[in-house]
Amino acid sequence: MKDAAPKTIYLKDYTPFGFVVDSVHLTFRLAPTSTRVISKIAFAPNPEATDRSFFLHGEQLDLKWARIDGQDIVPTLTEDGLRCDVPDRPFTWEAEVEISPQTNTALEGLYMSNGMYCTQCEAEGFRKITYYPDRPDVMSTFTVRIEGDEKVKLSNGNPVDHGDGWAEWHDPWPKPAYLFALVAGDLVNHPDSFVTMSGKPVELNIWVRPGDEGKCAFGMEALKKSMAWDEEVYGREYDLDIFNIVAVDDFNMGAMENKGLNVFNSSCVLASPETSTDGNFERIEAIIAHEYFHNWTGNRITCRDWFQLCLKEGLTVFRDAQFTADMRSEPVKRINDVIDLRARQFPEDQGPLSHPVRPESFQEINNFYTATVYEKGAEVIGMLKTLVGEDAYSKALDLYFDRHDGQACTIEDWLTVFEDATGRDLEQFKLWYSQSGTPRVSVAETWSDGTYTLTFKQHTPPTPGQDVKDPKVLPIAVGLLNPNGDEVVPTQILEMTQAEQSFAFDDLASRPVPSILRGFSAPIVLERNSSREERVFLLAHDTDAFNRWEAGRNLCRDSLMATIRDGAGHDDAWLDALERVVRDDTLDPAFRALMLAGPTQSELAQVLFEQGVTPDPDAIWAAADSLKRHMAQRWQGWIGDTMRRVAVDAPYQPDATQSGQRSLGAALLSLQTVLDDGAEAQSLYDRADNMTLQLTAFTQLLRSGHGAAATQAFYDQWKDDRLVMDKWFGIQVGAADPADAVDVAQALSRHDAFDWKNPNRFRAVLGGLAMNHAGFHRKDGGGYAFLADWLIRLDDKNPQTTARMCSVFQTWKRYDADRQALIRAQLERIKAKPNLSRDTDEMVTRILG
Ligand code: BES
Ligand code: ZN
Repeated sequence: MKDAAPKTIYLKDYTPFGFVVDSVHLTFRLAPTSTRVISKIAFAPNPEATDRSFFLHGEQLDLKWARIDGQDIVPTLTEDGLRCDVPDRPFTWEAEVEISPQTNTALEGLYMSNGMYCTQCEAEGFRKITYYPDRPDVMSTFTVRIEGDEKVKLSNGNPVDHGDGWAEWHDPWPKPAYLFALVAGDLVNHPDSFVTMSGKPVELNIWVRPGDEGKCAFGMEALKKSMAWDEEVYGREYDLDIFNIVAVDDFNMGAMENKGLNVFNSSCVLASPETSTDGNFERIEAIIAHEYFHNWTGNRITCRDWFQLCLKEGLTVFRDAQFTADMRSEPVKRINDVIDLRARQFPEDQGPLSHPVRPESFQEINNFYTATVYEKGAEVIGMLKTLVGEDAYSKALDLYFDRHDGQACTIEDWLTVFEDATGRDLEQFKLWYSQSGTPRVSVAETWSDGTYTLTFKQHTPPTPGQDVKDPKVLPIAVGLLNPNGDEVVPTQILEMTQAEQSFAFDDLASRPVPSILRGFSAPIVLERNSSREERVFLLAHDTDAFNRWEAGRNLCRDSLMATIRDGAGHDDAWLDALERVVRDDTLDPAFRALMLAGPTQSELAQVLFEQGVTPDPDAIWAAADSLKRHMAQRWQGWIGDTMRRVAVDAPYQPDATQSGQRSLGAALLSLQTVLDDGAEAQSLYDRADNMTLQLTAFTQLLRSGHGAAATQAFYDQWKDDRLVMDKWFGIQVGAADPADAVDVAQALSRHDAFDWKNPNRFRAVLGGLAMNHAGFHRKDGGGYAFLADWLIRLDDKNPQTTARMCSVFQTWKRYDADRQALIRAQLERIKAKPNLSRDTDEMVTRILG
């Protein structure tokens, strides 16, 4: 809660804590509204610090007593912690506090979810459990005793002993408090085991509420694959006797990498063919890998302070992307990641919330778990790898693990490792961490006497607080094709370091067609007005799968833009080229499905805005809808046939092959639905035996206005499954006709099963509305007001989820004056709410600018 004027924390103000912690011993006496936490902490003066004032973080704690070396003391309590005098030598701190997990709706610290105790401490939640120096550079071993009647009582590290009503755990690896975890409840486990590369057996468990046992097998396989992959690819072995995963229903984020005890949002671990889509399976595999990979990139080597968050998150996202590419399809993963980057990170970097990958200040760190820190942070690592090459990357990572194991590090440490391993100077590269904004790169080309020259110009528009930008290092992957479609120059990395720079290719027999920024080798906007003919050529011939997709996507975008701007008809030359790709059975169906998906309506709004045209959400929706109808009419001769050819006969498997077939089938079904008014979708709905098909069919029925029967049937079938009901809530809003979306959301928010304090359910309805671009931006502002009402209501209960959802307003300056005024009014209404949380206050203030 907002207690005083918001305080801003600066990277430049970092100083080490005056004390080191040698050991922590915690005893928990569990009770829903009166849990006692008894702490015993061994402190010693930190030789590396000069400031010896003793301050411990603590929030919403009821202190019962405190002692130093056995002597009762009376510390000075403040809103956010306590201070007291301490001796100038090693000493023991002891204290007892009372907390109330049952009434903790913020889901930060120790809280209860469906009768089970669990914790979430990252970033600054441990201070709601006991008094402690809650900062990531203070690392210690932990011993934890849990007392309570719950059948299962878990904490970090290895089990030490247990008896009637108690269990004790010891984590031998020094860790910051944000990695602490405790779980207790009447849980059941799905057990397995793994033998590490040096032959050490590890006990594995996924813990769930009774009834969910049948949804653990896939997650367990993903965990074992992750463990094997990290050994093979990064040489990283697991380091405890046991690895536990717990599924909880109420969780603000996706999952959390607590040492030896990962806690997951149940939506990110529980899976079965009947209840989970292909997309859910892929995400679950990736997130289990992600949290597991943190064991080395995050836990063994952690962050010195929260400004260095990308040190663990950017690197771990990069690692989980490598894993997914290895387990599934590399080009499909890359295309999906770029779609995601453009949908979430680009708007952030080009709007009022723009911040560097390593921010320099914050008020509430929870607001900086952003697409920029995560996804752009991962892109920066990808560029580094491209620049130094595979072998040097491996060498640098080995050095990183070797040199920094057990430490709390900075981006400087990370880059120095690369400089030492490769001899490269990374001074200029480092700008990627400090300068925000998306670079825009234009290209000019010349051709004479067998020499083809590309001249690039880079420019990064100003962002809040950063008016002037320096040229960055850009690895631009380029290949050249002959007019007959053969590749004459295979992919090369052009290393651009200046504002303007030329690269020449000699001894060419004919003027080539360039394929630029292959694999999306840098997170930039490429401004190149290539001709439609060239794009059609690349769509047919590019040997780089990403750029082939990109050529098709740009053609789609241009066709839609022409419709929106000038009412132009659709580009049939592009549609013919697209048809050849979509009907080419030698190509991966997943890739063909991606080719059929055009840019999102929100992305079109951004492009219009950049071209100086005020986007009209209704016109964008109408253009996309008209294109879909046109495609369906034009291709009616083969849609049904191709759909049947890619249909899966075999029993359901969530693998890349089958899910690719289903995604192409879904894209085609959306066209078929236009032609047959939902007949095929209804028949698919009636025979679907897995959630992917069921939800695909349900979505199309809703889109075509024939969803009433399926809505009822789906509800009757799944009303007792929380995760499937989240889908039911979300899709009705997301797939609603824009004119009805707000009303649908409103009606669902009055449904008995709308449990708004559950973040998944809240996001299903309110996030679903924001995903319905034209529906959310309804002209009368009804969408904005409805969302604001709910944000104001949720803020008292759960600031973190409220603040994150505010970011849907970040693109408000794109729209017309009327919509801007309507959004501004809602943002100001939120800002004026009494006792607005620090989280939401910071977000709304930054968005208003
Ligand atoms: N460390 C985070 C989880 C976290 C973030 C907890 C912020 C509390 C506050 C975790 O490793 C993570 O990054 N989770 C992501 C998913 C991941 C696959 C990118 C998430 O929860 O969305
Ligand atoms: Zn993470």
